[in-house]
Amino acid sequence: MSFDDLHKATAQALTGAVDELVAEFEVTPEKLDQLTAHFIEQMEKGLKPTEDKATDKGLPMIPSFVTGTPNGTEKGILLAADLGGTNFRVCSVELHGDHTYTMEQMKSKIPEELLDDENATSEQLFGYLARRTLAFMKKFHPEQIEGGISAKPLRMGFTFSYPVDQTSLNSGTLIRWTKGFKIADTIGRDVVQLYQDELKKNELPMINVVALTNDTVGTFLSHCYASDNTDSMTTGEISEPVIGCIFGTGTNGCYMEEIKNIVKLPADVKKKLLDEGKTHMVVNTEWGSFDNELKVLPTTKYDVDIDQKYSANPGFHLFEKRVSGMYLGEVLRNVLVDLHKRGLIFAQYRTEKQLPHRLQTPFELDSEVLSHIEIDDSTGLRETELSLLQSLRLPTTPSERHEIQRLVRAISRRSAYLAAVPIAAIILKTGTLNKRYHGEVEVGCDGSVIEYYPGFRSMLRHALALSPLGAEGERKIHIKLSKDGSSAGAALCALVA
Ligand code: BGC
Repeated sequence: MSFDDLHKATAQALTGAVDELVAEFEVTPEKLDQLTAHFIEQMEKGLKPTEDKATDKGLPMIPSFVTGTPNGTEKGILLAADLGGTNFRVCSVELHGDHTYTMEQMKSKIPEELLDDENATSEQLFGYLARRTLAFMKKFHPEQIEGGISAKPLRMGFTFSYPVDQTSLNSGTLIRWTKGFKIADTIGRDVVQLYQDELKKNELPMINVVALTNDTVGTFLSHCYASDNTDSMTTGEISEPVIGCIFGTGTNGCYMEEIKNIVKLPADVKKKLLDEGKTHMVVNTEWGSFDNELKVLPTTKYDVDIDQKYSANPGFHLFEKRVSGMYLGEVLRNVLVDLHKRGLIFAQYRTEKQLPHRLQTPFELDSEVLSHIEIDDSTGLRETELSLLQSLRLPTTPSERHEIQRLVRAISRRSAYLAAVPIAAIILKTGTLNKRYHGEVEVGCDGSVIEYYPGFRSMLRHALALSPLGAEGERKIHIKLSKDGSSAGAALCALVA
């Protein structure tokens, strides 16, 4: 066989293998039906009490203790702290009472050693958060902290974007870390208490953390505040914004559930709320953990490896591992390494060990690289070539790049199609589309994937139309970006706490 023939045969074999992979990553309308039905079932199950929250594989469905939505007239200046994927943000939020707010903020990157080290302590992490809070206060509000212990108390909302077993509006214990955090000693501890203690130790005894909220809940509340067509919850009807969600490093969503349906709420709490005339509560679904039992989720061998070999929380957040920004690049990396192992790609490297170091390193391939490849229409996919060289030091041939682009599109499409499932399920379960005359609903979203990944939103919409909601239902859903809403939402929470 000539060199050319050999080259052609390898290219064909690669195309054949990629055809199979693309088919494996496809989410069909039948699968969407199955997934949506299973999601609704899991929501109902999750609203009932569970034996052991740490080991339970079901949908967590965490009551947030937020029982109303803002209508945009709320006013005040409040502090907010926000621990998200890899950043910590402290801000003061001024709510103007006219659906708008302004914010002063300081953002810091969490030091690697706190993210990566299982043996780091909670005191180290929360001590760091308190020191950043002090730096913010010294820069923006030195007058507020001058009096020390006798200074005027300041109310703060704390957005903490990990699964927390919330026990009241301002307390909750960490169920498990997600998104790469590993500090074992925080699990089972009250994160508000940990933060509050460190604030005290760091010259900030005047700050009172009065509300704890998940980023989805914060996003939902700030979306309600900003949206000026919100009905008041006091009407007993679900108002137009119905879901708050995040598609970023992680993924999750929350919605308004009828208190009477939240079976797991302690009887005395439930009675008290109902006696006060409250009808609904925001529930943080923690949908990243949808179908941890893998009853219906599409699963490739790459998903299994990522979960078992490379992730910090094996067996949990399996939906997130197929959908969120933290994992999209890792799926592609695993596929590429496997294709190389099968002798189908990157023939210049004879063994796995010879592959560029970055291609061998888990989580080294950022979803941002995929977003460039996704829309590359340059001749010979030059953009892709540069992107892969820059990010992984990986040289590629034009035909390899063509196949890599097909893989990228299959991976992102699966993610966006799966992302439609919880939205369709929540809308169907709550019957929202039928509750109002026009039945139009809003979904407030935030996160790098929904904001920046090219085509993600339209693929998600397409999947909504293919889901049991159908094209009719899809048309009534407005997906709105609520950028950086999670901190403003924490401030809103602190206002009513
Ligand atoms: C966390 C959620 C969070 C989501 C988005 C997930 O990994 O478990 O609590 O809302 O990421 O940040």
